Amino acid sequence: MAQVRDGFQSRLGFVLAAAGAAVGLGNIWGFPTQAANHGGGAFLLVYFIVIFLLALPALYTELYLGHKAQANPVTALGDAWQSTNRKVGAAAGYIGLAGAVVMLSFYSIVAGWMLSYTIEPVAMFMGLQGVSEFLHSDSVMRNFVFTPLMLILTASIILKGVKSGIEKWSRRLMPLLLILLMSLIAYIATLEGASEGFAAYLVPDFSQILDPHLMIAAMGQAFFSLSLGVGCMMIYGSYLQPNANLPKLTASVALLDTSVAFLAGLLIIPAIYVAQHNGVEVFSHGKLIGEGQLIFAILPALFNTMGDIGLVVGLLFFVLMSIASVTSTISTTEIPVAFLVESHKVNRTAATWTVSLVVLICASTIILNFDWLFGLVIMLFTQYQLPLMGLFYFITVGWMWQRGNKLHQASAGAHYWFAQYIRFVCPVLMTLVFASVAFG
Ligand code: ALA
Repeated sequence: MAQVRDGFQSRLGFVLAAAGAAVGLGNIWGFPTQAANHGGGAFLLVYFIVIFLLALPALYTELYLGHKAQANPVTALGDAWQSTNRKVGAAAGYIGLAGAVVMLSFYSIVAGWMLSYTIEPVAMFMGLQGVSEFLHSDSVMRNFVFTPLMLILTASIILKGVKSGIEKWSRRLMPLLLILLMSLIAYIATLEGASEGFAAYLVPDFSQILDPHLMIAAMGQAFFSLSLGVGCMMIYGSYLQPNANLPKLTASVALLDTSVAFLAGLLIIPAIYVAQHNGVEVFSHGKLIGEGQLIFAILPALFNTMGDIGLVVGLLFFVLMSIASVTSTISTTEIPVAFLVESHKVNRTAATWTVSLVVLICASTIILNFDWLFGLVIMLFTQYQLPLMGLFYFITVGWMWQRGNKLHQASAGAHYWFAQYIRFVCPVLMTLVFASVAFG
């Protein structure tokens, strides 16, 4: 009997898993930092426009490619290009796989920091000063403890498969993430200085709205936030039932992801102003002091000013960050694992540990060359790989996929205009983004 492919059991399970993939450090750390540095509400406005005009269609095309092929990105893109040159599509699939490994390599380091900061208040509470010091101080040793820990945590979910691992844990973790986020917003809102933060976040500084840096920041942020460009949404799309309502699911995932980013802004930006009110230095020349400092210096400094309750707030905050991290690392790990299982007949356990080991080797290389490699890898990944792959997906769905491509064959009605939008407008917009990023 043919082996039945694993997949999502329910519509809600898919939406929570895909939103879990999308919601991550990009939403809770990246989005508020970008908003704080780019005119608050102005960034918000441009971000919403970019989500609607570009990221939403890109999310649809990526889910669509996987859904039609019911296969991993290498096979899906190879199939999509078979009428022209199968190898071109497959090569893009491999680039996506490599991107997934690269992304996991830096993401699992940062996710490991979230784990160590989660344990730190517990160590503090137990009076373990030395342990607490180790957990909140930057060190190669700490990275070599917590990066593998994060990879093992991710692998333990992936090993169970799509339905019993990814879907089950997304259904548990995503509601918890939303509850934590809302509770923290409600608490921070009661503190002095918060209202100034709400105003800075929600009232647009229109003088910044046409700044090209703001637009580029918003586009990169939108693509990273929706986990587009590495095949993550393609593999999740492939696990949907063939009769799934893709446009509706696409809209639900984008709405959830964007709502969490918006809510994260309601937490972080008022928290920055509360910290400032409590005497913590947060801005220098109108910019946040070092973007990395926000999570690991400014917020912990704020929690310290709160007394005992600060330990609980700090703990809950880093639990939130750890959940956001792990729902994103599982989706990214699933891409190469699915490829090894489907295309090379490796069993799931061996595939999971092989991928985790390769990621650990790459992450170790970054840890040992942190000063020059970490930022460089993130910059190349977000500014080059993601927009280029987005452009490739638009061209693939709009122009290359002949067989069974409803978008391509659409001849009337709203569908027709959407097809034209994917074929002409999106590639032109993406080319402009890429050109502006590449040529400054
Ligand atoms: N989409 C994930 C994030 O925003 C990778 O962190």
